[in-house]
Amino acid sequence: MSSGDGAAAPLPPYPSTLGHPLTHTVGAMRDVFGFRTRAMAEHDFVRVKLLGPGDVYHLGHPNHFEHVLLSGRDDFRKSDDFRIAFDGGLVAVEGDSWRRQRGVLQPLFARDRLLDHAEEMVAQVERRCRRWADGDRIDLAAETGQLSLDMLFATLFGRELALDGDESIRTAADRLQDWFTPTSYPLPRWVPTPARRRFERGKERLHAVAGDLLDSAADDPPADPSAADDLLSLLVALRESGAAPEGALDDDHLRDQVVTMIFAGHDTTSTAIAFAFYALATNPDVRARFHAEVDSLDGPPTVDDVDALGMTERVVTETLRKYPPVYTIPREAATDVTLDGYRIPEGAATWLTVDQVHRDPRFYDDPDAFRPERWATDLRERLPDFAYAPFGGGPRRCIGRQFALLEATLALATVGREYDLRWPGDPDADPPLVGAMTARMKPGTEFVVERR
Ligand code: HEM
Repeated sequence: MSSGDGAAAPLPPYPSTLGHPLTHTVGAMRDVFGFRTRAMAEHDFVRVKLLGPGDVYHLGHPNHFEHVLLSGRDDFRKSDDFRIAFDGGLVAVEGDSWRRQRGVLQPLFARDRLLDHAEEMVAQVERRCRRWADGDRIDLAAETGQLSLDMLFATLFGRELALDGDESIRTAADRLQDWFTPTSYPLPRWVPTPARRRFERGKERLHAVAGDLLDSAADDPPADPSAADDLLSLLVALRESGAAPEGALDDDHLRDQVVTMIFAGHDTTSTAIAFAFYALATNPDVRARFHAEVDSLDGPPTVDDVDALGMTERVVTETLRKYPPVYTIPREAATDVTLDGYRIPEGAATWLTVDQVHRDPRFYDDPDAFRPERWATDLRERLPDFAYAPFGGGPRRCIGRQFALLEATLALATVGREYDLRWPGDPDADPPLVGAMTARMKPGTEFVVERR
């Protein structure tokens, strides 16, 4: 498969000009999802010309994902953007350094360990939604953004954020996405665009927060790393006990890990929860089945209820199919590659288009419909590998996958027992979705709170 003797990848049929970089760049900036759907309508391998990154190879078949993420992964690497933005954090590093870090962090993200956080997750949801009153109009993206940060800090870092405070942490966390603002792409990375400056300020603030958190965790680290109950105490215990492999967890790495988890775990989960509510609000039949399930619990969900929340979890699974927060998995060719008969030159940006695969009628019946029940069939067994990839795939599959699924399922069930979030807009209009580094609900999108 490798070597560079393949054919030139086709340009998109849309727009109908000769694929001028300006037309592609403007089209993608205006409406990235619509642009892609039209650009990839005839081929699932197209070469989009963007100002800045140049030719960007858009790959939209599960076999492409399999190659880039698994069998041919040595021919691809993370782009410099990740290294510049997240230094030594798990999301950015490669090779032995990545293997060592992943090895020490993985046990903390196992489902059994995460269940210990279930109660805290529910408490965080209750604390926030108790402030809602019947008839309130809430900015759902803002609420779920705050909530996912509350949950991340309370569980992984053992630090409860103030509901009406800690603004500088909240703002800084939001700024982490700004490194990847598309309007910066046409300019070289050294140009301090306003978005890049916002990113730098956010990162600096979170480095300071991470330093404080680590200092307080270092006061009383558990003697045995396997007894650590959150990420901070695990990191510190590994360091203090000497159990971490050399170079895996020095001070800089610890800080980078904290910032990485905030970057990777915050916006993604927020989008998932927000769109699950949007999907429930615009699909009354699904909402009725969801309500029946959550109403059958004796009270707010507990760890013992998690296995009984099958319908709720399917709502989350279907939300991640239809509205994948990470709609592009980016890589860069580390060498000249031939894939599916086409050439990808060394250094070229290679984007796996998760949104396109998830809506491909070759794999999903009626792909535009929101149908959680499809996951109650043998669909998972029938789907080709990598046809469902909201968390990526291969060895670098999302380490926070179980964490996010648990968080979103418990958030839906906790809110859903008490409140109905009504969508006041047109249920048949386009969803309030915008695409930056991750997909997000349009800021300011309001839902109406109805007490049940
Ligand atoms: C619905 C929520 C989430 C989605 C959709 C999501 C999606 C993804 C995807 C697609 C990747 C692979 C990226 C690639 O291969 O380039 C990834 C990696 C990662 N995710 Fe998540 N994620 C979510 C939640 C979380 C949470 C809650 C955390 C941490 C608390 C987290 C931490 C990470 C980290 C550290 C990586 C890098 C793993 C590695 O390279 O070994 N994610 N995520």
